[in-house]
Amino acid sequence: MKSTVGVIGGGQLARMMIPPAVSLGLTIKVLEEAPGMSAELAATGVGDYRDLDTVLAFARTVDVVTFDHEHVPQHVLHALVDAGITVHPGPDALLYAQDKLLMRQKITELGLPSPDWAAISNADELGAFLESHGGRAVVKTARGGYDGKGVRVVDDKNGADDWFIALEEDGRGGSLIVEELVDFVRELAQQVARRPSGEIVAYPVVETVQKGGVCAEVTAPAPTAADTARAADGTASTVAEVARDIAVRVAEGVGVTGMLAVELFETRDGRVLVNELAMRPHNSGHWSIDGAVTSQFEQHLRAVLDLPLGSTRPREPWAVMINVLGGPVGQTLQDRYPAVAAAHPAAKLHGYGKESRPGRKVGHVTVTGTDLDAVLADARAAAAFFEG
Ligand SMILES: Nc1ncnc2c1ncn2[C@@H]1O[C@H](COP(=O)(O)OP(=O)(O)OP(=O)(O)O)[C@@H](O)[C@H]1O
Ligand SMILES: [Mg+2]
Repeated sequence: MKSTVGVIGGGQLARMMIPPAVSLGLTIKVLEEAPGMSAELAATGVGDYRDLDTVLAFARTVDVVTFDHEHVPQHVLHALVDAGITVHPGPDALLYAQDKLLMRQKITELGLPSPDWAAISNADELGAFLESHGGRAVVKTARGGYDGKGVRVVDDKNGADDWFIALEEDGRGGSLIVEELVDFVRELAQQVARRPSGEIVAYPVVETVQKGGVCAEVTAPAPTAADTARAADGTASTVAEVARDIAVRVAEGVGVTGMLAVELFETRDGRVLVNELAMRPHNSGHWSIDGAVTSQFEQHLRAVLDLPLGSTRPREPWAVMINVLGGPVGQTLQDRYPAVAAAHPAAKLHGYGKESRPGRKVGHVTVTGTDLDAVLADARAAAAFFEG
């Protein structure tokens, strides 16, 4: 059996793949961008993921290559495949997690619901979209955005001029995306895992709360996911069923292998719209480490090795995950462990081995249980302790 997984990128997602790799008796190797990153424990190399020779040399030491992030350039990915290296997810799927414009086109082509959107290349085109959408809209860069960077609400046709100029200076040309400003009731995320041989499993749909464009809280499953929603074909179904159906159709439609997260908006009139895709473990699935039979990190390893997938069943009725964002500069998360652990014995504490900086994701806290209000309160209080 293939048993050595190579992860490109040394962030916390790679770090959190290490424990399940150890449990399963696999070998995990990480190519980190700089020494001392989050996944240092499993790092076997340091180098630039944009450099083909670096990535190829690393890839030749493993059975399958997968990712901590989606920034490895297409030409590098294709060169790996051409060299006979197994890459999951493959470049043709990963493209839709790398480029939001191609993603919008693909989602539309698959007949799945998006916010109203358009590709725009100048201020006049933005102005025309604003005029037909009540004067406000969301502009996004197609590539390179994360944690809300590259996403901006505008109400003026000149509100994205700096990005148009940057595109031009970049020399590659290309467009921005403009989307209707969705008046959502809440944001959801649906995760599925897909093996190369086709098996798919789905996690319960979760509710996510973003603060300043950054994921802050996740509740699994999403409360009231059993309520009625409108499916893409107009028929009524539950929110949970509609979300699962969308994610399965995306997974099959783009041929993703490994974990897929579909970020969704639930609208006031009961529609579920696709926001964006991630093809790797995702912040919305961190709850599964402590809350599900198979964590998203173990599932990702199983999927990229084409092993049978694990049960996605929650271990308890509710799980709440809160990100620790920042925390006191100059202190580590561990400095606070004694106090948090004493006050919140049921909270599971996860530190990413990163230095605290304002707003930076340095860890998370998960609490599971049967009473949602109690679980939420405990998780929030434990996370607040870290940030205070
Ligand atoms: N069309 C929209 N209407 C309303 N709000 C939006 C829209 N698009 C994005 N947002 C808000 O901005 C957040 C970030 O947008 P998006 O997910 O596209 O960016 P990102 O930076 O790639 O995110 P991530 O943090 O997941 O990497 C969304 O979670 C949502 O809260
Ligand atoms: Mg997002």
